[in-house]
Amino acid sequence: MQEKKIELSFITAHLSELSEQEQQLVANAKSSLKTAYAPYSGFLVGASVLLENGEIINGSNQENVAYPSGLCAERVALFYAGARYPDVKVKKIAVSVHSKNFEVTEVVSPCGACRQVMAEYEEKQEEAIKVILHSPTDEVLIANTVEDLLPFMFKSPLLKKH
Ligand code: THU
Repeated sequence: MQEKKIELSFITAHLSELSEQEQQLVANAKSSLKTAYAPYSGFLVGASVLLENGEIINGSNQENVAYPSGLCAERVALFYAGARYPDVKVKKIAVSVHSKNFEVTEVVSPCGACRQVMAEYEEKQEEAIKVILHSPTDEVLIANTVEDLLPFMFKSPLLKKH
């Protein structure tokens, strides 16, 4: 038996410390909160994806009365980016949140399903995706790669018979 350790790395910062481009991406995510459809949770999420071609794709969470039919903001944005620009790499994703019911004071980390989807695109494009999580208080948490958000991820080679 052997205990092993893994190291994860992330950066915390104030929004004002980010580059102009990243602040713009966060501004897009914040502005996408307006398009969230979240009548059941009152929890609004905006996600903006920056592509290698400079395009920004915006998404927001879309809920449904049959709860599991809804989709998180991150997957709305990433799936649309994948459908619209299948061969263009994803450079960064920014996520912003707002609750209608309480004050959110911390960054909100993407759910496991969204991390898995981010991880798949990262693996497909063989290049890291930078994840920028933004709180309503303008604190940000940055992971330079999705791998740091999802250790032990299920990867496509695991599907193949060796
Ligand atoms: N939600 C997201 O859009 N992204 C996340 O990473 C976490 C949760 C949404 C799903 C649902 O509409 C609401 O937030 C409450 O869970």
